[in-house]
Amino acid sequence: QAEAPRLTVIGTGYLGATHAICMAVLGFEVLGVDVDERKIGKLASGEVPFFEPGLPELLAKALESGRLRFTTSFEEAGEFGDVHFICVGTPQQPGSDAADLTYVDAAVRALAPHLNRRALVVGKSTVPVGTAKRLTGIVHELAPAGTEVELAWNPEFLREGFAVDDTMRPDRLVFGVASDWALERLQAAFRPVLDLGTPVVRTDLATAELVKVAANSFLATKISYINAMAEVCEAVGADIKDLADSLALDDRIGGKFLKPGLGFGGGCLPKDIRAFAHRAEEIGVGQAVSFLREVDDINRRRRARTVDLVREMLGGISGKRIAAWGAAFKPNSDDIRDAPALDVARTMHGLGGHVRVFDPAALDNARRAFPELRYGESAFDVAQDADVVVLLTEWSEFREIEPDALAEVVRHKRIVDGRHALDAARWRAAGWEYRALGRS
Ligand code: UDX
Repeated sequence: QAEAPRLTVIGTGYLGATHAICMAVLGFEVLGVDVDERKIGKLASGEVPFFEPGLPELLAKALESGRLRFTTSFEEAGEFGDVHFICVGTPQQPGSDAADLTYVDAAVRALAPHLNRRALVVGKSTVPVGTAKRLTGIVHELAPAGTEVELAWNPEFLREGFAVDDTMRPDRLVFGVASDWALERLQAAFRPVLDLGTPVVRTDLATAELVKVAANSFLATKISYINAMAEVCEAVGADIKDLADSLALDDRIGGKFLKPGLGFGGGCLPKDIRAFAHRAEEIGVGQAVSFLREVDDINRRRRARTVDLVREMLGGISGKRIAAWGAAFKPNSDDIRDAPALDVARTMHGLGGHVRVFDPAALDNARRAFPELRYGESAFDVAQDADVVVLLTEWSEFREIEPDALAEVVRHKRIVDGRHALDAARWRAAGWEYRALGRS
């Protein structure tokens, strides 16, 4: 078929909304589908329900073109689409390491009965290996008799803060397919991206599912590796910053995801490594990835160790005034899911510290999730009369603060740099006691 396929995107959360908007901007007719009427209402009226640079402008453009519409009707989705992307969330199950597949299953079950002509269903959600095979069975069982429906897997690697670029110009596309027809359909659905020369890997469904968790596990391992080295550095008075910089200059290792500090959080890396370890145990290869438990433990220790550093500096936390800079799990995001910054702030609060938190984008989300914490309106505001300032998320706004200007408002010139974001020499020269994990 030479004609461009019509696309539906099922699940209009972070991944789905971005995918739907970008695909419409690239020229496709797109229908965004979600069970959440509020979300659909917002998107249809031009509002992106989360923080992502560049996306609101593209949503406006896509809506104006008339190529992007939204609905809560799966019947309409089945009627409209040739290729259906499943983009719903797969969070961690409460009380377990396993991924919660309720939404993926529900999306496929709701869509399949309405697939009344030849269609391709493409999973993009991050799932335990084997899910695509199981979903194939469900699709075949529920699709109307006589219609040819296939399932494919196309994992998504987008990073928050770079979601538009990662979608429009990805490093690679992975197409997990069971037939040449499915491959041809996927190629048509990504034509403008392929025309940029984007490398494609054609593979089977299980491999495509695994690529995603393998990539995130590798990234998490790299971060925990350098943070493990920070623990060693601390024990011998060595310097993790110099060590990391030296490793980064070996281009076989590279400097990306080698930044030591408070470690990883967010909606993906922590839950993905746990779900992967859990799935590996289920299928009898737990030993192969048991190191991921260690990666998780190293990462959690970073949070405890940051609290220890504050305690050491102050000789105790109870009753001390603590400025916490940052709440989001990383800069340029308002996402507080599994955010190391808020974990540390809450622990210090629990130990009796008078903690006040500021974040340039995530303040509302933090307030809603943790009303027991106190918040302030700026980095300087929360630092008023502080016994210590603790940098927890490396927003550039914090990097740019002048040590002398900040000295005017604090009670004691003490700073803990949880992200190795500041120039230690500069702060020390201005008379500050500066401490960071893995440095003396
Ligand atoms: C990640 C993957 O990068 C992306 O490919 C996947 O699709 C989703 O998960 P994201 O969660 O948006 O993306 O954040 P990312 O930029 O990868 O950062 C993850 C965490 O690692 C953050 O908390 C960040 O602060 C931390 N990190 C990152 C480090 O501690 N050190 C580093 O060197 C890099």
